[in-house]
Amino acid sequence: MLVCSCNYITDKEIRSVITELLDEDCWQLIVPAKVYHAMGKRGRCCGCFPNVVDLIIQTTEDYHVQRRSDDANVVDFIERLKRFHEEQQAHLAERRQKMGRIA
Ligand code: FES
Repeated sequence: MLVCSCNYITDKEIRSVITELLDEDCWQLIVPAKVYHAMGKRGRCCGCFPNVVDLIIQTTEDYHVQRRSDDANVVDFIERLKRFHEEQQAHLAERRQKMGRIA
């Protein structure tokens, strides 16, 4: 199924890259930009990113279930994603504030 019409990327290609990233470090935080960067692509309209996030969550869960990851080590992925988003928002707000002072 075509997920990204701007870059012509299918769900199968995205799942494959996510699995490769998880093979490198199964506890890393994977975001759509990281997946696209690994593919040598980048988001254009970024309308596909919510679906890519769903694929990341689903593929990560499947990855850990297949490898029977220890439940005690399973990190709440959504919580990490939320934290990452909040950090990015804080950096953006800080940058805007600095730009406002300069202008
Ligand atoms: S649909 Fe993926 S970047 Fe536009």
